[in-house]
Amino acid sequence: IGDTIALTPPMGWNGWNSWARAIDQEKVMASADAMVKMGLANHGWTYINIDDAWQGQRGGKYNAIQPNEKFPSFKQMTDYIHSLGLKLGVYSTPWISSYAGYPGGSSNLEHGFFPDAVRDNKRAFRYIGKYSFEKEDAMQMAEWGVDYLKYDWRIEVPSAERMSVALKNSGRDIFYSISNSAPFSNVKDWVRLTNSYRTGPDIRDSWLSLYVSAFTLDKWSPYGGPGHWNDPDMMILGNVTTGSPLHPTRLTPDEQYSHVSLFSLLAAPLLIGCPIEQLDAFTLNLLTNDEVIAVNQDALGRPARLVGEENGVQIWLKQLENKEYAIGLFNIDGYTKTPQSYFRWGDEKPVSFTLDLTKIGLKGKYTIRDVWRQKNLGEFEGTFNTGIRHHGVVMIRLTAHQSTKH
Ligand code: DGJ
Repeated sequence: IGDTIALTPPMGWNGWNSWARAIDQEKVMASADAMVKMGLANHGWTYINIDDAWQGQRGGKYNAIQPNEKFPSFKQMTDYIHSLGLKLGVYSTPWISSYAGYPGGSSNLEHGFFPDAVRDNKRAFRYIGKYSFEKEDAMQMAEWGVDYLKYDWRIEVPSAERMSVALKNSGRDIFYSISNSAPFSNVKDWVRLTNSYRTGPDIRDSWLSLYVSAFTLDKWSPYGGPGHWNDPDMMILGNVTTGSPLHPTRLTPDEQYSHVSLFSLLAAPLLIGCPIEQLDAFTLNLLTNDEVIAVNQDALGRPARLVGEENGVQIWLKQLENKEYAIGLFNIDGYTKTPQSYFRWGDEKPVSFTLDLTKIGLKGKYTIRDVWRQKNLGEFEGTFNTGIRHHGVVMIRLTAHQSTKH
């Protein structure tokens, strides 16, 4: 892990924010089919990840967690997803009952959140503290052909380590993601043991939640890199169900541009959190801009740093390979208010902002390209002036002029 898996951030889909407990085989297949039909697969989107609520009881050759009745032909589904050129992810947990109350127990740890589920899961209950199932679960996943494991909630280092070892010994390359709110104090262990670790709580489709989950990640940035990514959670674009029923995201179009820009700059895992077969043209466009994706997938793998904040504008700088840079200028003003209380369509004016390039260490002349519009804006030295819409972003890529020394 770390040497060969996930040298750039994973790109895919996760079903939780679409379907939560209502996930089933048909819905997973529909998103896999749509990943190909909508053309997303051609832009690098690969993982089809099943979150909580697929698990049944322990059994089978390894005495491992088996799928429940909502997944009647799990192996065929896996093979089908692979035949599309895609990869499959599943969910597990060290706790004997999952976050949503399904059987879990890879580390056979008891907890007190779901007393009914704990009582029902008698087999796991008997072994608490004496035996754990990481090896069995990892072997079963490898045999099915699983490519990604999301290991969920309040993970402690010893249990994370046991699963890490089990996956490494499973005979298959399985991306190992831990969730949720991995403590910052253990970041070096997450880097050592996992391929991605959740930096915060569940994200919601509001500007405030996006702010809390992503605009605060600067302290994590030095730790993310090839094979171990800071994970601010699934993207809240398209139709989401953060508190059902499924509804179009409450982020404004500008906020959605900011969302994708920041996740790309942060080198975050890009996990689509809506039913792909329901994607509208606007959302599809947000997800298929190759120049934006290239910032996320840059081989240097360095998460952006917050290098300045002036007049309600945050400046995030990501170093790219070959001495190029990507910058996001975010007009974050008013993030603590709900959009409804102040946002009225059409009446907001972009703020005029002057970026002082020398102040963020970029001396000399640069060609600046607008990444979203895929258009060169010219050559700049010293300063760069632009308008930024309310909660919107200007995302640029800078290439040093040959006269510029680094
Ligand atoms: C908590 C995680 O943070 C979510 O992303 C999701 O996996 C749920 N658990 C599932 O129960």
